[in-house]
Amino acid sequence: MYAMKCSLGQHFSHGSLTPLSSVSLNPAASVLNYAQGVFEGLKAQRSDEGRILLFRPEENARRMKMGAERMCMPCPSVEQFVNAVKHTVIANRRWVPPPGKGSLYIRPLLIASGVALGLRPPPEFTFLTYASPVNSYHKSPLDLKVENKLFRAITGHGGTGGIKSIANYAPVFRAINEAKIQGFSDVLFLDAATANYIEEVSSSNVFVVKGNVISTPVADGSILPGITRKSIIELATDLGYQVMERDVEVEETLQADEVFCTGTAMGVKSVASVTYNNRRVEYKTGADSVCQKLYDTLVGIQTGLVETTKNWIVQVD
Ligand SMILES: Cc1ncc(COP(=O)(O)O)c(C=O)c1O
Repeated sequence: MYAMKCSLGQHFSHGSLTPLSSVSLNPAASVLNYAQGVFEGLKAQRSDEGRILLFRPEENARRMKMGAERMCMPCPSVEQFVNAVKHTVIANRRWVPPPGKGSLYIRPLLIASGVALGLRPPPEFTFLTYASPVNSYHKSPLDLKVENKLFRAITGHGGTGGIKSIANYAPVFRAINEAKIQGFSDVLFLDAATANYIEEVSSSNVFVVKGNVISTPVADGSILPGITRKSIIELATDLGYQVMERDVEVEETLQADEVFCTGTAMGVKSVASVTYNNRRVEYKTGADSVCQKLYDTLVGIQTGLVETTKNWIVQVD
C-alpha cells in the first residue's frame, strides 16, 4: 500500500510504499466517530500485449478532491493521486490478472486520522491506496428491486449524495440485504423527496433506453457522478444515440426497452428486470442490445483492444 499524511491547513507532500498493514487509530479519530472520509475505486487492466492500463485515473483524483472539500479535508493533488495509484499498481503488478480474467481493483482512501472529540476537523489526515485482484462483479444481467422506503444518501443540493463519502455506503446494506433475501441482485434507489424518480443503484449509475434515446438521472448532488457514466454518455453520443441527462420517473423506467447500469465494478451491465411494488418488468438483454454495444466499446478501450483518440488510458509501466 502507499501512504501519505498531512496536517490540517497543510498540503500533502510525499508518501511511501509499505507492505499492506493495519492502520493504527486513536478511538477518538474523526473518521471513526464522524465518518470524515472519502474513497475512490478504479481498476488496472492487463492488455493482450501485457501492458497495464488505468482508465481516466485523474477523474478519480478530481472526484476525491470535490469530496474532500465538502468534508473539510486536505487532499492530494491530481498528480500526487495518480502517482500513488501507479506506485501501488507497479508494486502489486503480479496480482494484475491476465486479459479476460479480471482486473486489479485499486482503492484510494482519504481519512481524518487525527483526534478531535469536539465536532471539528482534526489535526491529521491520511491518504492510502491499496489493491486487490477482482473478478467481474455479477456474471449475468441484473434483477433490480426498486426501494421506496429506504434512501441511499443525504441527497439534493448541499447534500453528500454527489461525493464518494464513506458515510454513503453502510446505509445501503439494509436495503441490499432485504433485496438479496428476496432473490434480487441489487437495489434501485429513488429520490428521497418524492420517491417518484430513479436515482442510482447502490454502487452504479443507471440508464434507461427507449428507441434511440438513452436517458440517465442528472448528477446534481444526489447521485455520484460516475466516471463510467460520463464515459458512456460520450461514447453513446459518438455512436449516434440521443443521450439525455434528466429526471426519470419510475413509471417511465418500467416502460423502457432496456435498462443498464454503469460503474467501475460492473462496467456496463444489462438489467434483466426491475420490480416495483411487486410489479416485475423484463427488458431486452443480450448480443444485439444497446448495452452490449456500449460494453464492447468501453471495455475495448479500457483493455487496449479498441483504438481511441480520447485521452482516457494511462499506461502504468
Ligand atoms: C453510489 C455509486 N454510484 C455510481 C458509481 C459508479 O461510479 P464510477 O463509474 O466512477 O465507478 C459508484 C462507484 O464508484 C458508486 O459508489
